[in-house]
Amino acid sequence: MIDLQLTDKTHDEGRQGEALIVDAPKLLNARKLYIESYGCQMNFADSEIVASILLDQGFETTGNYQEADAIFINTCSIRENAEQRVRNRLSQFGIEKRKNPKLIVGVLGCMAERLKSKFLEEEKLVDLVVGPDAYRDLPQLIEQVGDGQKAINVLLSREETYADISPVRLNGNGITAFISIMRGCDNMCSFCVVPFTRGRERSRDPHSILAEAQDLQDRGYKEVTLLGQNVDSYKWKGTAEAEDGAEIMVNFAQLLEKVALISPELRVRFSTSHPKDITDEVLHTIQKYDNICNNIHLPVQSGSSRVLDLMNRTYTREWYINRIDAIRNIIPDCAISTDIIAGFCSETEEEHQETLSMMDYVGYDFAFCFSYSERPGTMAARKLEDDIPEDVKKRRLQEILLKQQTTSHYRLQKSVGKTVRILVEGFSKKSDKDLCGRNDQNAMIVFPAAENVKPGQYVNVIIERCTSATLLGRITA
Ligand code: 5AD
Ligand code: SF4
Repeated sequence: MIDLQLTDKTHDEGRQGEALIVDAPKLLNARKLYIESYGCQMNFADSEIVASILLDQGFETTGNYQEADAIFINTCSIRENAEQRVRNRLSQFGIEKRKNPKLIVGVLGCMAERLKSKFLEEEKLVDLVVGPDAYRDLPQLIEQVGDGQKAINVLLSREETYADISPVRLNGNGITAFISIMRGCDNMCSFCVVPFTRGRERSRDPHSILAEAQDLQDRGYKEVTLLGQNVDSYKWKGTAEAEDGAEIMVNFAQLLEKVALISPELRVRFSTSHPKDITDEVLHTIQKYDNICNNIHLPVQSGSSRVLDLMNRTYTREWYINRIDAIRNIIPDCAISTDIIAGFCSETEEEHQETLSMMDYVGYDFAFCFSYSERPGTMAARKLEDDIPEDVKKRRLQEILLKQQTTSHYRLQKSVGKTVRILVEGFSKKSDKDLCGRNDQNAMIVFPAAENVKPGQYVNVIIERCTSATLLGRITA
């Protein structure tokens, strides 16, 4: 059996354990914070909010946990193995804690929210447990730990969006940045822990989103990614200063347009879309503006209407296909990526085949593929039996991964011979003689560096060949 691994940029515990080093100002006599993030982009964005809150408290960040006064780990609960990785990491930090009892070890994010005070009982070396809506309380909680107590705040909020907090850009390339536009999730997908760990859905004030995007543009950033668990249900009702305080409503299509209008040089991406909510209005907006990238992440989860119903996805196979057809009609060169779960409760062999045939129909550019992992407290855990044997789940996942690898390669090959405009992000991971960047469709392109080409610039590259995940080319006029 082939062991294929696809890592998920949006949601996966595959992207993990990145220590965040800051372009933040250095402080005199600062305490040092080491923060490591797991899970989705949202979690990485949250770590930037945490760093900002703690910067005000005299903490600067470090990339070396051995010199830290506080180690925070921003955790993910989406699948069991995500949690296991965090626990392994915590035992490593425990060694530091034994050496230096003054060191503060904090667990933030989804696992903190899921396990609450159980965390303090299970992991004796943890001092601090803070859920995703309680980061403003961190200064006071840290003080409490300084007084020798354990500290916890896992209250979820219906309002918190951290709208007024200007994130400290961590680990940044100074070119691309995330902007959270909403928090929480109101969809009750039966497999998913997110509504329990991140609470109710709420949209952030568009003025603060636009101000953040404008600030990034002013500081030379060239790409922003608008983040939410379900961006298509973004909805904000409030007053508009420019219109004498009149009441306005802003939906996702309108927000997207407002961000795109900041500058044609600022690329706009977004994630994640939901098949039940993505509207033609959003698709027409993407089509209308060159700087809104032609790339939609539209998780399908399964190709079978019966399984989709058990998952409580609230759409059918036919509905999903209708949305794909709409994307293809309105934005012909749009890249489409997805999430797929193999071996959900009671999935038959025929239903698994329906997922494979859906993949053939859509021809995804990229897919994040997982085998089903039961999460305590979810609707599926309470009502459905996790009855697909592990070896069957694994085999189905391999079939899905193999199909995706073939399709991804096929789609990349279609670019060979074409000239594409890319935003240079930096040097390639493998060689400092090569630069890399992404095209509109989010494919990574590697090409030989040139004297006059710097990260942050747009260049045209002619694609000469491709590997299974990367396009290779050279700069052209
Ligand atoms: N088991 C496996 N995969 C899951 N996902 C979410 N919950 C689970 C679970 N319990 C996947 C879905 C989702 C992505 C973020 O993670 O595909 O879209
Ligand atoms: Fe993981 Fe929480 Fe992000 Fe879900 S919302 S992917 S559980 S970090």
